[in-house]
Amino acid sequence: MLTTEQNKATRQCASCAADSIQRELPELSRDEMKAEIRRLAKEKNAVIMAHYYVSGEVQDLADFIGDSLALAQQAAKTDAEIIVLCGVHFMGETAAILCPDKKVLVPDEKATCSLAESCPADEFAAFVKAHPGHTVVSYVNTTAATKAVTDVVVTSSNARQIVESLPADAKIIFGPDQNLGNYINSLTGRNMLLWNGACHVHARFSVEKIIELKAQHPEAKVLVHPECKGPVVKLADKVGSTAALLKFAIADEAKEFIVATESGILHEMQKSAPQKVFIPAPPDDSTCACNECEYMKMVTLEKVYACLRDEQPVVTVDKAIAAKAIRPIERMLDISAKLGL
Ligand code: 13P
Ligand code: SF4
Repeated sequence: MLTTEQNKATRQCASCAADSIQRELPELSRDEMKAEIRRLAKEKNAVIMAHYYVSGEVQDLADFIGDSLALAQQAAKTDAEIIVLCGVHFMGETAAILCPDKKVLVPDEKATCSLAESCPADEFAAFVKAHPGHTVVSYVNTTAATKAVTDVVVTSSNARQIVESLPADAKIIFGPDQNLGNYINSLTGRNMLLWNGACHVHARFSVEKIIELKAQHPEAKVLVHPECKGPVVKLADKVGSTAALLKFAIADEAKEFIVATESGILHEMQKSAPQKVFIPAPPDDSTCACNECEYMKMVTLEKVYACLRDEQPVVTVDKAIAAKAIRPIERMLDISAKLGL
């Protein structure tokens, strides 16, 4: 099994290769590059999937945009021969595990995730071993190797329902996101043992700045992703995954929303509800109004073009790890399908 350090090193090398490919880009306007990407996707029977946090122009180019759950569900059922996963590395790994017969490409292998990195597989495995008799529930924001020591995977769209589907007296380990774990504990009354991990983007929203914004926009509703810290979650009118926040923003009668999740979601919110106002909640450590995930923003149009043209970097998962990791992912997909999620 690769250690986190080895994993990083592997990605670094593949990514350097990808970078050198990008330097050989033809001179194309952005519109020409988009047209070329669409042409290549058709020619190669490739599907382009994007998470809501990547840039608006990449989202607009995709065949499918969604949250982490929707991307996994879509990958599991696609007929395409190639999947271009415009998101972070663990999303590509999940698609590769679910589709071993397909080529899964990610535009930048260096686009990792601070939350996944906060849970090295070897340390998590030792934690699990130290607490026998627990059901291990892992957030999808984990490496394949961490999923391999997991009983059931969850996303922010289904974590509550999946935890509730476990026996009431089940002893549960939940990792790696402590904020999401605390939130699910508060909703379900469970007392899950939590891994001490966090997403650096969601952990830095500022209660004070949201309160200030709320004073300026008293009618605005506050939308919060459950990876945020407890005090931020307490300010929310709606807590949910990116897809749930989007759905709420479209359906709700409010005209203004303060959005406490990665600011990429505002693109689709604004497109879906152009008459409404979406205000990004600012981080506490910056003068900038937006809170961006630098890993998601590494997925550029140029890299999407280069990766589809050259069919690399390909996401590969060690076969032994994939054989273990697929079980908790499929268990999540089965439970979600039964619950209509
Ligand atoms: P969802 O896609 O489940 O909303 O999670 C957000 C996230 O942080 C993805 O990396
Ligand atoms: Fe990971 Fe946070 Fe970025 Fe999502 S927003 S990919 S959890 S670092």
